Amino acid sequence: MNKQEFKSRRKHLMQMMGENAVAILPAAPMRIRNRDVEYAYRPDSDFYYLSGFPEPEAVAVLIPGREHGEYILFCRERDPKTETWTGRMAGQEGAVENYGADDSFPIEDIDDILPGMLENKQRVYYTMGTHPDFDQRLIGWVNRLRKQSRAGIHTPGEFVSLDHLLHDMRLIKSNHEIKAMRTAAQISCEAHRVAMQMCKPGMYEYQIEGAILNSFAQQGTRESAYSSIVGGGANGCVLHYTENKDKLKANDLLLIDAGAEYDYYAADISRTFPVNGKFSKAQRALYEVVLDAQLAAIEKVQPGNHWNEPHEVAVDVITDGLIKLGLLTGSKKKAIEEESYKKFYMHRTGHWLGMDVHDVGDYKIEDEWRVFEPGMTLTVEPGLYISDQHSDIDKKWHNIGIRIEDDVLVTNTGHEVLTDGIQKQPDDIEAIMAS
Ligand code: GLY
Ligand code: MN
Ligand code: MN
Repeated sequence: MNKQEFKSRRKHLMQMMGENAVAILPAAPMRIRNRDVEYAYRPDSDFYYLSGFPEPEAVAVLIPGREHGEYILFCRERDPKTETWTGRMAGQEGAVENYGADDSFPIEDIDDILPGMLENKQRVYYTMGTHPDFDQRLIGWVNRLRKQSRAGIHTPGEFVSLDHLLHDMRLIKSNHEIKAMRTAAQISCEAHRVAMQMCKPGMYEYQIEGAILNSFAQQGTRESAYSSIVGGGANGCVLHYTENKDKLKANDLLLIDAGAEYDYYAADISRTFPVNGKFSKAQRALYEVVLDAQLAAIEKVQPGNHWNEPHEVAVDVITDGLIKLGLLTGSKKKAIEEESYKKFYMHRTGHWLGMDVHDVGDYKIEDEWRVFEPGMTLTVEPGLYISDQHSDIDKKWHNIGIRIEDDVLVTNTGHEVLTDGIQKQPDDIEAIMAS
């Protein structure tokens, strides 16, 4: 993403905030994995969306109309010793030169400087509850100002949730964002192809996971958008299975849910295929139900349709399919009303996708489902999960878990499937696996 993109985002937000307001966004802290070992640092998406600043220990402040600069970035001071140990830092000069800050101060000085920036402002835009330690510090700064009221200092009267404005912005993707998401999608498609081609009975799930991560890296990104799910047989029926530790059995299906993160944007793809390269009759029958549901749901992604339409049609097709296969009884209408399909399809058909895999943005406005608009991106991911806990049904259906997930962009005239670079028709999958 170039500097200009971040600048225009800040400008847009400041226009919506109006004068007399301040927005404050702290960077996420580093997290410890275990003694002396930290998790890889990934800035929180709200902070990065506006700043493009990749370091921890930073706070971005936006003050529309401020004479000495509207965008202030507090960040670490450069220190050669620390840089020798843990890597380069931007410092105050870098914050201005490379990250578009109008002004920058050392993070150590924030207690002295930030309260002054809140003086005589009406509204503070801030997201409470995400960084509890920072919440406390902000309350402390405001209380300090209150104590100075006899000196004529006015304390902000309104605390407004920043999420609302910011997440509405993040929901509609710009051309630059769409480009990054296309790249994330293409990289992920190729990794799924690698997985299909290498899969053999007797391999371990983590070997496939490793090959997927390697494929991401070979194509230019180190990051996954989330922990990969590589689950054979019964493990495919555990929705968030990430242990990826078992040996793959010839007659099982393998469910893979894996997506790269590219330039801070996520892809999120699921494919399901037979470990031995050939769908059994039962596997194929269920697979086709899920695929029909997914294709019907994708068709509903059109500007003007509402958020729940893909889910509604997916539930309809899945319920119909389950009745035809004898896995549900009674009428479709009743099965949908009573939600008996939820025994086998217990999650929703998708979510917004963007910088976060489960991206921000409201799904309802007041009590109405949100209407699709060009620039929104979402996943479409119906599934069926039949574990062996269902002792009342024929064993041939047991331990079949299937999910088919694609990433879809709403366009002016309909939609674009960003992840159509990896096949999902069963014959095509068998052909890839045989190649
Ligand atoms: N990979 C997480 C999801 O599909 O929602
Ligand atoms: Mn998903
Ligand atoms: Mn997924």
